[in-house]
Amino acid sequence: MSRLPLRTLILLFSSALCTSSNAKDDLVSFHREVLPILRTNCFACHKPGKSKGGLDLTTHPALLQGGDEGKVIKSGDALASRLIETICGDEPEMPKESEPLLPREIDLIKRWVAQGAIEDSAGDTGTRRPSEPTTYHSLPAVHSMSFSPDGSLLAVPGRHEILLHQADGSGIVSRLAGDSPRLESVAFSKDGTIIVACGGAVSEFGEIQIWDTQRRELIRSFKESNDTFYGVSISPNNQQVAVGCADKLVRVFNIADGVEVMRCDNHLDWVFGTAFTNDGLRLVTVSRDKAAKLIDIASGHLIDDVNMSRDPLICLTRHPIENLVATGGTEGKIRLFKMEPRGGRLSEGDNKEESFVREFEHMASPIQSIAFSPDGIHVACSALSGEVRIFKADNGQRVAQIQVGRGPIFALAFTADGKQVVAGGYDGRIRYYKTDTGEVVKEINSVPLP
Ligand code: HEC
Repeated sequence: MSRLPLRTLILLFSSALCTSSNAKDDLVSFHREVLPILRTNCFACHKPGKSKGGLDLTTHPALLQGGDEGKVIKSGDALASRLIETICGDEPEMPKESEPLLPREIDLIKRWVAQGAIEDSAGDTGTRRPSEPTTYHSLPAVHSMSFSPDGSLLAVPGRHEILLHQADGSGIVSRLAGDSPRLESVAFSKDGTIIVACGGAVSEFGEIQIWDTQRRELIRSFKESNDTFYGVSISPNNQQVAVGCADKLVRVFNIADGVEVMRCDNHLDWVFGTAFTNDGLRLVTVSRDKAAKLIDIASGHLIDDVNMSRDPLICLTRHPIENLVATGGTEGKIRLFKMEPRGGRLSEGDNKEESFVREFEHMASPIQSIAFSPDGIHVACSALSGEVRIFKADNGQRVAQIQVGRGPIFALAFTADGKQVVAGGYDGRIRYYKTDTGEVVKEINSVPLP
């Protein structure tokens, strides 16, 4: 059997196909096609703070600006561009110390330069927004829910849209249609003026949507990456949004212009949750790599882990008032931490994390979501088994235990007055429960059925 490495095999195949690819000269997209190649192969040595040869390849302006030796791109002329020269040939200079780019990748970058090296807007990667509202024949799973702070609305992602329900479940008020077929996470800002959502299409794009709550209009959508965004959060001053991603990166964007202001590559696996500190200067993120990390937003650098790694983390939620986060993972453990460094390097079995505050009763199934009541008094969590538990946040005492139903519960939210909890999940139903007793109040469909 051939022991050729996979990449060599791909190289052989793609060089055979390469000749025909010049025929169709579709416009190459910088954001969708070129940037992902540079990200995978070049960013490690050519990014702000570590720009080898003075060259930053992370943004379009930086790329055009060039490095210590001057410009590396001559728009419209691939063969006269230093960047193309470094990636071509039998033993290409770049990427330094690793395998050459694939012929298909080189071809894309060449064509992009030859076509003028233009920057397409990150926002217009194909409009797949349906012209008609989605018609549902079955209920889609509920992945996220958020109540408006004034207590009037409940936002729930559907397919290609966000549904705004009356908070009491008495009807659908509005349907906000967007590009992403699937939204993973939705949140109202603290003042209720905007709704942010993130999601995307697997292997295609990640998207963030910013909606005006009053006018029910999309203020802005920005797309990045070629994978789905998770765990959106809004900075306390409403000026930035943070997301995790299946590509392992954490990103922060300006809401006003969609500019990416921070990118952190410290996680080793999918990043599912983000939360800003009260001063807006730091971010806590959780990943399947088991780590809850504290990141400095100005520099994009890791400050420290918040937790000691134990189990892959799936969700995080921040306390509404204090700088605290609760994390949940595959082992069914819910832990509360200060949004601070865990304190020194700890060895295995050493439990003295300085950031650790409290642990809640374990659940026998992976935790899927956690929510605080708006006053911070209660914390609720849901599991893959379909169970929901509600605890007192300050002492961990269990208040209610509810077997919601068949299938996993992916999303939880407290009503604005904190008196009820809603749970949604696999079966697409949204169920209301009393916080202090767990008694069921109401049950509705997440989307309209014919
Ligand atoms: C492991 C680190 C590393 C990686 C990965 C890397 N580079 Fe470089 N690059 C360097 C260093 C170091 C220099 C400075 C010049 C030198 O030492 O050769 C440089 C310089 C350059 C220059 C300027 C060369 C000149 O003389 O003007 C270009 C263009 C360049 N890199 C492109 C790329 C591209 C494109 C990729 C990804 C396909 C990439 N590099 C990946 C380390 C790296």
